[in-house]
Amino acid sequence: MEKYLEMISDGLYTFHQGSLMVEKVFAKDICSRFGTPVYVYSATFIENQIRKLREAFKSVSPLICYSMKANNNMEVLKLIRKQGCGVDIVSGGELAKATKAGFKGDKIVFAGVGKTREEIIAALNKRIYLFTVESVEELKTINETAKSLKKIADVTLRINLDVEVDTHHYIKTAKKETKFGLPEKQVESIINSRNEFSNLNILGIQFHLGSNIKSSTPYIEALKRLKRFLKKANFKPSVIDIGGGFGIQYRDETIEQIMDFGNKICEFFVENFPGVSMVIEPGRFIVGNAGILLTQVVYNKKTPHKNFLIVDAGMNDLIRPSLYNSYHEILPVFFKKGKLIKYDVVGPICETGDFLGKERLLPDGLDSGDLIAVMGAGAYGFSMSSNYNGRPRVAEVMVRGGKMKCCRRREKFDDLWKHEI
Ligand code: LLP
Repeated sequence: MEKYLEMISDGLYTFHQGSLMVEKVFAKDICSRFGTPVYVYSATFIENQIRKLREAFKSVSPLICYSMKANNNMEVLKLIRKQGCGVDIVSGGELAKATKAGFKGDKIVFAGVGKTREEIIAALNKRIYLFTVESVEELKTINETAKSLKKIADVTLRINLDVEVDTHHYIKTAKKETKFGLPEKQVESIINSRNEFSNLNILGIQFHLGSNIKSSTPYIEALKRLKRFLKKANFKPSVIDIGGGFGIQYRDETIEQIMDFGNKICEFFVENFPGVSMVIEPGRFIVGNAGILLTQVVYNKKTPHKNFLIVDAGMNDLIRPSLYNSYHEILPVFFKKGKLIKYDVVGPICETGDFLGKERLLPDGLDSGDLIAVMGAGAYGFSMSSNYNGRPRVAEVMVRGGKMKCCRRREKFDDLWKHEI
């Protein structure tokens, strides 16, 4: 357990006399103050991750556009902005929230296969840095929209290089069967006819291979393919955006450390694309292991077949285990030495797919009211949560040093129907 925490948390999650701490705050104190379930984030962890990224990619010093779909809590966004990062957005809503968090247009990149005219207008008015174009149809719409506003849109073309990555198939995005990006042939024909798009400035190329990728190898492979392609298409980009997807440690899997990961990509980049600017769009890497979900046991239910630890957080709060069969470490908030038994840790939702972890070794005596921590929940945790089964969304708390601050209040029951008319 200690070894796991050491591995994932830079010493920011620790056990002190058997009680879990987030930085210098006891997890139990967060629960008594704000209730459960509750998401908790370590501000220092987030800052450390950004520092590590900068260090690892030092020789290229890319623009870091944090992918806010991973965690768009306003406090998290402001913290990341203050570290000098930009933001990767995928909707008008994200544009509005990024603006509210103080991000300037010149550090915003806008991806996504279904940008509407209204979203394009809003982004043009915000003078964003780059649109990541995902189809010929969208390219035409951006061009026409920019023309009608008498503006020039700066774009990258998202190329689909048909690169395989080792991750869950729902979050592989660079295979040719996926909806993302443009096939090489279409990119080439856009480049050849770029003079027809009077209101577009094609600055470069983007690719995004998928999410939670554990090694630099597919990125190097993509860059190799891109180099070949650019030569063939006779195009010199001024920007290459390599997307996000940098993996993190959720358990004992082997992951290339960020220094090696960044160094290898940069080494190849500097040698093969001299003078080209790089953009990166990490989400999970920055916030994933910064956050945990604290929940309490409602019942310790024993049947002849299984032991179920029924907790007060469910798939509506953290859907990753149900949706991708993702593994999140589960720890008791108070660790007492003693007999461990296997539990399925499940939520209160009326679906068999509602689980946080299966066959987990946890203390035998856990009972109603005992606290449990679901680790690595900072990315795609709260941001994918819902009100399913009439459950108000939970509170979010930011910790820095010895201080805790609620940065999203727990929803109330009347929040469940306040938009209905
Ligand atoms: N850039 C683009 C264009 C993306 O689509 C994504 C993520 C990212 C950057 C950031 O990827 P990251 O660095 O966070 O891996 N809900 C899933 C992950 C979905 C990722 C979607 N796109 C999960 O919980 O694993």
